[in-house]
Amino acid sequence: MKLKILELDTLTINKIAAGEVIERPASVVKELVENSLDAQSDQITINIHEGGKSLIEIIDNGMGMNPEDAILSIKRHTTSKITNADDLFSIYSLGFRGEALASIVSVAQVEIFSRTKENEIGTHISVEGGKLIFNKNISTPVGTRIVVKNLFYNVPVRRNFLKTISTEINHITEFVTRLALSQPDVAFSLKHNGKDILTAPKGDLLAQITAIFGEQIAKGCIALDKDEDNYKIKGFITKPEFSRKSKDYLYTFVNMRSISNKTISDATSRGYGTSIPHGRFPIIFLYLTLPAEEVDVNVHPTKREVRFSKESKVYSLIESAVRQALEKSGLEIFERTLETRFKPTTLTNIGKLKTKSDTSKRTTPTSTIAKQPKFQIIKSKEQRIDSFLPSSMTGVSDLDKTAQQKVGIKVLGIIKDTYIVAETEAGLFLSDQHAAHEKVNYERYINQLKNKRVNVQQLLAPVNIALKPSEFASFEEIRENMGLFGFEIDVFGKNEIILRSIPSIMGVSIDFTIAKDIIDIIKENVSEIKNNLQVEDLKFIKDLVSIFACRRSIKAGDKIAIEQAETLLKNLLSLKEPFTCPHGRPTIIILNEDYIEELFKRDYR
Ligand SMILES: Nc1ncnc2c1ncn2[C@@H]1O[C@H](COP(=O)(O)OP(=O)(O)OP(=O)(O)O)[C@@H](O)[C@H]1O
Ligand SMILES: [Mg+2]
Repeated sequence: MKLKILELDTLTINKIAAGEVIERPASVVKELVENSLDAQSDQITINIHEGGKSLIEIIDNGMGMNPEDAILSIKRHTTSKITNADDLFSIYSLGFRGEALASIVSVAQVEIFSRTKENEIGTHISVEGGKLIFNKNISTPVGTRIVVKNLFYNVPVRRNFLKTISTEINHITEFVTRLALSQPDVAFSLKHNGKDILTAPKGDLLAQITAIFGEQIAKGCIALDKDEDNYKIKGFITKPEFSRKSKDYLYTFVNMRSISNKTISDATSRGYGTSIPHGRFPIIFLYLTLPAEEVDVNVHPTKREVRFSKESKVYSLIESAVRQALEKSGLEIFERTLETRFKPTTLTNIGKLKTKSDTSKRTTPTSTIAKQPKFQIIKSKEQRIDSFLPSSMTGVSDLDKTAQQKVGIKVLGIIKDTYIVAETEAGLFLSDQHAAHEKVNYERYINQLKNKRVNVQQLLAPVNIALKPSEFASFEEIRENMGLFGFEIDVFGKNEIILRSIPSIMGVSIDFTIAKDIIDIIKENVSEIKNNLQVEDLKFIKDLVSIFACRRSIKAGDKIAIEQAETLLKNLLSLKEPFTCPHGRPTIIILNEDYIEELFKRDYR
């Protein structure tokens, strides 16, 4: 059969294009709000119903459109923002493709109401699946109101792909947050099902940050302002203790456009030096103003990425501006060199007691490590377990009191307040007190989770945590899941929650950075938790538990009593797999009789 090539009709072409530009309700919000900003509005109201699946309404007080322009606006490649390809190289408006409205109207039912201040009477056009249903005169305020109903009603595949209402509103709120921050002199209001989600007044940037993120983050802000031959950077960074485990709090803008860019995030991290641990990110609100011809915004269909023609100049400007602002605020910043980045912490060194074979490979020996006698793990794990555990104990999974008593352990002493030395039937035990305690705490918590009965502890001082509006919008979902893990939280104020109790294995206090990390981990894994998997199957659980099992546990260097050490070892040995901590490091090294005899060359038998 000979295939015939056909030219696609406009509706089909627009529907295909919409697939690129309009991915989900948040993309509609973004495109429409950007249009409102381009139309010089200073008040933008956004009403959403059902995560944007049933209704998205944007009302602005911008310059509006006259009836002819309103009809043109829904056609593809119609724009008032550029006139030719040369303009593409110096773009100051947010839109320029003339594609957004055409895409939106092709996949939804849309009403547009608009009036310019020169016109007494406004216009109302109604479009469905790209087809103009009617246009008529109407009395309407100056500005534009666009109502988008039943998004993807004619693209069932897309509609079915939409996520839960909570996920969609989360995305919308994040977009609106970014757009609001991009224009501090525009007032924003976002409502979901009639409820206020975000209100950002017109004003200066700090006022907006306070309104959107709350006092806590606003108080941690450090101003930054630098100007170097036509390259300007200003905004706020925050104190290092506000660091987060994800890049979600990097708010970066180039020529008033919210973008994400690796050069900017890398340069910022470098500016913070070692004040923020590797792999964590600060909260920043950075505004770069560069000559438009040195920024390529036409890189990605959603315009979220940009390319700089002078990348290294941008990098060094940001790095030095961040560094200077931190230093001006009284912080001493040390540059992150490759060496500091990869140097293992003392704790890691202690855990990695080496076997003979890797002695030579250690790259950064600390003096304590270098002086350690050469202990050796004698036998394979399996052999060791069988060789000393009373048969009644194999398979014991939790802290079984009677089983503990059966293990004959005598603690002889503790070396350097770090290693417990004990005598047992199986030989001489050398145990890392931190790794041992961490393992015990870890197993205890996992067991409580399995039994769905996590012991909780009221915090002596409840912790307030500022959330972003997008996180706050899906707070109920987070709260429910936090509860399962032993964290009790309540709403405290605008975008703020209060943590009242924590799993008792975490002790009686928690600092807010750790609390925030825990919330982030749970938030990122909500869907996994919802699938009702077994605790052992939850991939993130190790991360979660090791955050607090590790911090809460006895540290190397902590003084503990002999009796405490004895209880700790007994508790450890009553576990199914006592020999490795949750991070995979050994908890106990056994010097059995054979080996000791061998060391003393008594192996004459
Ligand atoms: N809220 C609004 N107020 C005034 N004019 C508007 C508004 N929304 C759209 N327009 C007009 O409609 C035109 C088409 O909008 P559309 O979003 O489709 O394209 P664009 O903004 O020019 O480019 P892009 O596809 O990159 O967004 C705009 O160029 C503008 O003239
Ligand atoms: Mg546009």
